[in-house]
Amino acid sequence: EKITAVVLAAGAGKRMHSDVHKQYMMLAGRPVLFYALQAFAESAVTDIVVVVGAGEIDYCRKEIVEKYHIQKVCAVVEGGRERYHSVYEGLKAADGSDYVLIHDGARPLVTADIISRSIACVREGDSCVVGMPVKDTIKVVGADGFAKETPERSSLWQVQTPQTFPYGRIRKAYEKVMAQGDSAVTDDAMMLETAFGEQVRVIEGSYQNLKITTPEDIMAAELYLNRKSEKKC
Ligand code: CTP
Ligand code: MG
Repeated sequence: EKITAVVLAAGAGKRMHSDVHKQYMMLAGRPVLFYALQAFAESAVTDIVVVVGAGEIDYCRKEIVEKYHIQKVCAVVEGGRERYHSVYEGLKAADGSDYVLIHDGARPLVTADIISRSIACVREGDSCVVGMPVKDTIKVVGADGFAKETPERSSLWQVQTPQTFPYGRIRKAYEKVMAQGDSAVTDDAMMLETAFGEQVRVIEGSYQNLKITTPEDIMAAELYLNRKSEKKC
């Protein structure tokens, strides 16, 4: 059984406003990208594909994979303009997999428990994404700055990664949607919804499984990581 984690690190991190791409920024002493790779290396995943920005393949291999002795990395490939282009490059490099977990390299706090529950779910036959109920009320706001609608909060979830699929299914969905040209698809579950009208199970993630997006997120992630390492001692 081949279970591949495709870890995405090809974004430009515009909202971070930092010189160094956010996936390579230091977080509690190690680069952001290290943490997710280590979590997958220690899991039941058999292979890891890392997707990086143009010209960053050697840097990633030397400064992350080799330097921190990360096991199971079978390929480091170059991504594309939008997240879904990068995912597609990762999926091609994961050819022959039974299952694939697609994960944002900018989510360093993914846990062993989240990974193992995602794998258990896809083995039972369902594609799944991890998510959490939203805490704030969400409003649809028009271009005029006025709130137009307030969707019922109890049905709203914020989705995270990993997003986990039978390999053939997600590869076909990407091929179908990408053949139609530019896409507004923002996550992998939406690919299955768009391509085949297929439903994806939402399983419990964690509020700590945040995505490093703006400078505040670095501070929050550092607090969580430092607390984790204290607990181990
Ligand atoms: N990503 C990618 N290829 C892209 C865009 C994004 O691999 N063309 C990855 C990012 O590296 C990140 C994940 O997808 O791990 C989630 O994207 P996001 O948080 O939006 O990261 P960035 O696109 O880098 O940040 P921003 O949107 O602020 O520019
Ligand atoms: Mg982005």
